[in-house]
Amino acid sequence: MEKIVALCKRRGFVYPSSEIYGGLQGFYDFGPLGVVMKNNLKRLWWDWMTKEHENIVGIDGAIITNPKVWEASGHLKSFVDPLMECKKCHHRFKADDIEGDKCPDCGGSLTEPKNFNILMPAELGVIEGEKIKAYLRGEACQTIYLDYKNVLDSTRLKIPFGICQIGKAFRNEITPGNFLFRQREFEQWDLQWFCRPDEMEQWFEYWKKERMDWFKSIFTHPENLGFYKHEKLAHYAKKAFDIEYIASPIGKEIEGIHWRGDWDLSRHAQFSGQDLSYTDQETKEKFIPNIIETSGGVDRTFLFLLLDAYTEEADRIVLKLNPKVAPYKAAVFPLLANKPALVKKAREVYDDLRQSIYVAWDDRGNIGKRYFFQDEIGTPWCITIDFQSLEDETVTIRDRDTMKQERYKINELKSYLEERLKQ
Ligand code: GAP
Repeated sequence: MEKIVALCKRRGFVYPSSEIYGGLQGFYDFGPLGVVMKNNLKRLWWDWMTKEHENIVGIDGAIITNPKVWEASGHLKSFVDPLMECKKCHHRFKADDIEGDKCPDCGGSLTEPKNFNILMPAELGVIEGEKIKAYLRGEACQTIYLDYKNVLDSTRLKIPFGICQIGKAFRNEITPGNFLFRQREFEQWDLQWFCRPDEMEQWFEYWKKERMDWFKSIFTHPENLGFYKHEKLAHYAKKAFDIEYIASPIGKEIEGIHWRGDWDLSRHAQFSGQDLSYTDQETKEKFIPNIIETSGGVDRTFLFLLLDAYTEEADRIVLKLNPKVAPYKAAVFPLLANKPALVKKAREVYDDLRQSIYVAWDDRGNIGKRYFFQDEIGTPWCITIDFQSLEDETVTIRDRDTMKQERYKINELKSYLEERLKQ
């Protein structure tokens, strides 16, 4: 983990937020490479959801909602972390993290666990006394339930169907830590799948498999992924599984597959007074759709992908990221930076490729140093323009993982890279 955190800062993947002021615990910024990788990841998820599944549409909901939402959802009452306080040094600890009854910092005795709500409040309005207390959303999915009726009325969707969203969520985590794993501001990707109550079993198994297959398709070592079955369930849930990164040295959960039944729509119908039932147009049957949720952390996936790809070999550090996820797909170098003919040819290749593919340019130092740098940021292919290129319009392509070099025609480069990126 320490090596990943250092690499993230050194190469511009992730920085501690507001670092010049000493930072703020549980908040991070994505740097130039991090934002590209995170966007790649989100695009892969979004396209997979909405293009590969006919009956799924997306939304992008507001972060602040009517505060009643959090009453209806149960978060105001039960979104709590039990904390214990040391009677001597007054440090607070998550009850789950404590073994025994003594303070880990000073050995003082601890209070009984007390509950603290982790919803993050926000004040709306400017006039003292008239301000409204609202909340930053504690889970992104609530907006999907709120928009469910609007989506149904404005599209031609019929049950079963899904609404998906990628968006920020906020939690006053008592013990933020482990880098991106437990933050106070983070991003979730959610699918809420609306189906008939009697089809829940079949859809639950379907989504469990679909999501695992998707994660396996982007991780370097798919064998590092597994399921965790929850034994302790919410009262409305019949099943809940986590997809885990089992090789993790910290927490393991990446995504939850949750049986939410009719809980959310029934509660919002009750608290809003609106009819949120669904009428089957053919049979005229009226019912509250049941929901299966797949809710994952974008930042946790990002972190686990880096952990999974990080490799130390003889004299190099390599991020063996899936090319689809890697920030740059290729890097272009002139063999020598002081030979104008090589630089000119290399710039032609670079300018042409970057119309359609995210490519890096590098003419610093020697080729070895450039390979070292690109390996460390996960660039799958390095293209070098050398003296032979000026004669026969070919270049070398060096593969990040095998370090093998092969010659290709310049006019075949784009299709070579595009083909490889499809695999
Ligand atoms: N809508 C259901 C829900 O929010 P969750 O298990 O609390 O369920 C879903 O969160 C996912 O969000 C988790 O599997 C995790 O990947 C991510 N997540 C939750 N809390 C997080 C935090 N404090 N920091 C980073 N990611 C978090």
